[in-house]
Amino acid sequence: MMSAQTASNQNPNSDALHSPSPNIPTYADIQAIVADDFAIMDKQVFGSLNSKVQLVMSVSQHVINAGGKRMRPLITLLCSRLCVDKQSQSAMHLAAITEMLHTATLVHDDVIDESGMRRGKPTANATWDNATAVLVGDYLIARAFNLLVGFDSMPLLRLFSDGTCDIAEGEVRQLQHQHDPNATEDDYLKIIDGKTSRLFMMATEGVAMLHGRADLQAPLKAFGQHFGNAFQMIDDVLDYTGDVATMGKNVGDDLAEGKPTLPTITALRLLKDADHTAYDRLRIAVQTGKVDDAEAIIRLVQNSGALDYCRERAWDETHLAQQALNNLPADIQDSPYRHGLWQLTELAIGRMV
Ligand code: IPE
Ligand code: IPE
Ligand code: MG
Ligand code: MG
Repeated sequence: MMSAQTASNQNPNSDALHSPSPNIPTYADIQAIVADDFAIMDKQVFGSLNSKVQLVMSVSQHVINAGGKRMRPLITLLCSRLCVDKQSQSAMHLAAITEMLHTATLVHDDVIDESGMRRGKPTANATWDNATAVLVGDYLIARAFNLLVGFDSMPLLRLFSDGTCDIAEGEVRQLQHQHDPNATEDDYLKIIDGKTSRLFMMATEGVAMLHGRADLQAPLKAFGQHFGNAFQMIDDVLDYTGDVATMGKNVGDDLAEGKPTLPTITALRLLKDADHTAYDRLRIAVQTGKVDDAEAIIRLVQNSGALDYCRERAWDETHLAQQALNNLPADIQDSPYRHGLWQLTELAIGRMV
């Protein structure tokens, strides 16, 4: 992965505004702000599964225990403490449900993307098979809704059911654009709004709803949306610059699958008038996927200037997420939990530079 030094040298648009704080916290520092809540939630993610079918439990255990950052539940827990500063059983429970839904989307995503590694371990589809992974992913979604019913809150159930439809639609939109070299940035934004940002919005708005804090719903929802957008843009850049050891999943998968993400969409836009040969090679690579000279195509994207543009867009979304935190009421501006959410934005963008 690129060092902060390398990236700022390469990016002529970098300026003080775009630099992460010199003292970027670690993820563990942010988790520590809600350490007790986090530990309880973490146990609940697997502990809330009670299938009678041993295979469901084995596959779920494989993916849940493989790790994962638990970033969506961490955000739920920080937001919960912003709403009501005391430990909340229902918030920890909602956070665990959010992670269950997230895990289900990853299990399905790995089948669609034919990915072999996730969270540093072989994926469920690689360990068992596609059918098993799809069905256990379905079970995780069903169980999440089973648990959501227990809140006895129609607004919360509506938020999560609408959101889950949006997530599925985002994945279907992505499928429609697979191998499509004409996909646009607008198409991409619609895809990531569904497949990624929607769950962050559910994690943030849902907990404000749970606590009856209607005044916090809009800013926390906006935070979830823009943080989610930034997070996915960064993930998509890392698919062209990261390495398997730090990511815990294979890189280069997006290109191999002919998935038009922001790096390729932008590279095609920039190369169209600038370099016809490179433009044609990249178009064919997106159309066909699985190219023999993947390394050369990755370099072509890297050299096109597209990644700088993607980083700029990720910064835009990060600034919008931070602005949403600035729009929270004055009496919680100094809260350590708001500070934790802010640090998370810096940590996420710091992965990329
Ligand atoms: C992966 O999410 C899917 C994307 C939205 C890019 P995470 O990076 O949060 O995955 P885990 O939960 O830590 O494995
Ligand atoms: C994120 O998309 C998957 C979901 C949000 C469901 P990606 O395909 O980019 O995620 P990774 O790279 O496999 O983690
Ligand atoms: Mg994937
Ligand atoms: Mg990815």
